[in-house]
Amino acid sequence: MNNTSASSHCKVVVLISGNGSNLQALIDGQEQGHLPIHIVSVISNIPEAAGLRRAVKAGIPQYTINHQDFTDREAFDTELSSTIDQYQPDLVVLAGFMRILTSDFTRHYQGRMLNIHPSLLPKYQGLHTHQRVLDAGDDYHGASVHFVTEKLDGGPTVIQAIVPVLKDDNATSLAKRVQLQEHIIYPMAVKWFARQQLELRGNQVLLNHSVLPDCGYQIKQL
Ligand code: GRF
Repeated sequence: MNNTSASSHCKVVVLISGNGSNLQALIDGQEQGHLPIHIVSVISNIPEAAGLRRAVKAGIPQYTINHQDFTDREAFDTELSSTIDQYQPDLVVLAGFMRILTSDFTRHYQGRMLNIHPSLLPKYQGLHTHQRVLDAGDDYHGASVHFVTEKLDGGPTVIQAIVPVLKDDNATSLAKRVQLQEHIIYPMAVKWFARQQLELRGNQVLLNHSVLPDCGYQIKQL
């Protein structure tokens, strides 16, 4: 891979289920020339996902594979991976893709699939993270980009953005500030991967050949 033309850029397939603001951050980075990637396809499991319209607007091929059309997780994941693999991507990016994936699927893309989760992993895996942080009275919250492994929200962390919880925060205001940081750290992680600076080796993440701590590279919003 080098940065000379779209065809030699890192080929990326993005999976979404909803709004697609993280997808948009990647599209913007690609269009503005900050990211040496070529988003070759966007796939949603939800037909009405707003993110699909972002793909259309950017001229990116988009598909819906509705999980409700499949009898089980295995059948859905098989169809999903055969659609992804037609594009022979270098990287699969989960951007608000709200499906639990089978082990076969995650193993197939191990080391070349990233996810973003709205918490400082390993804290608050799963849903409703913003409210859970408020309920616990935490001083800090944030978002994490991690390699996807068989462990749900449990793969090795690449980068975290730390966001202070403010006195008057509710789940909506907190989510908004965390998302702003997501739109910074996801493109950063994708850029590192595209430039071949990022590697998953066993359970460790290497950035520029150096092992990152378990929390990944951290940036703190003041
Ligand atoms: C983000 O908050 C992300 O952390 C979580 O799902 C949300 C997706 O938002 N995994 P969007 O669809 O990218 O706007």
